[in-house]
Amino acid sequence: MMHGWGPEDYQSNRHIRKLLGLARATKRDVFYDLGCGRGQLCVVAVTEFGVKRAVGIELHRGRAAKAAAYVEKLGLSDRIEIRNEDFIDSDLRDATIVYCGQYEVEEDIAHFGSELRAGARFVTLFLPFIGVVPTAADYPFYIMELPFKETRDVSLWISKVLFRRATIDELYRELDTDREYRYDKRTFKRIMKERFTDL
Ligand SMILES: C[S@@+](CC[C@H](N)C(=O)[O-])C[C@H]1O[C@@H](n2cnc3c(N)ncnc32)[C@H](O)[C@@H]1O
Repeated sequence: MMHGWGPEDYQSNRHIRKLLGLARATKRDVFYDLGCGRGQLCVVAVTEFGVKRAVGIELHRGRAAKAAAYVEKLGLSDRIEIRNEDFIDSDLRDATIVYCGQYEVEEDIAHFGSELRAGARFVTLFLPFIGVVPTAADYPFYIMELPFKETRDVSLWISKVLFRRATIDELYRELDTDREYRYDKRTFKRIMKERFTDL
């Protein structure tokens, strides 16, 4: 996924609840937030959804330290672990729900497809992985259950993204006018061409 610190634009509690509800988080789950910032998703996952464990991965040392101090202050250190590392190197084998709000990069499907166990749910923001059919969605969140279900049918994929049938030009227009989703269109188009052979 795209590297760099990115802005500190964090999800609101209402959005956090929406994404955890969509992923059907329960006490049987182990939740990972890849790029956890202040750690609030892990806190809500544990305190409101009762997940047995949550792990927040944060590359930025200062943010990771702040998140760990916050968790400590709430007395949740036995159930929430904050790791200061790049999530691409993280061991995700015990994860049942993973959230990542970063834009997709080329390797993501192969990487997370082999890193995560069957039945795990991967949650993305704004778009599912290109060519992967989401198993549930409530904009801006998309859930893809493992193993990823890939399709080469661009119309099917677009209909799952926009919740209606649309052409590829209509998809680009929708994405262009989205005020929150500021994407790298060249990368996006390149991946689209690779994944959908009829483009
Ligand atoms: C926009 S914040 C989102 C925080 C939280 N997940 C939320 O949605 O409220 C994204 C965070 O991901 C971190 N990040 C970006 N790339 C990362 C990587 N490869 N490994 C770990 N953290 C990363 C950034 O430092 C930033 O704090």
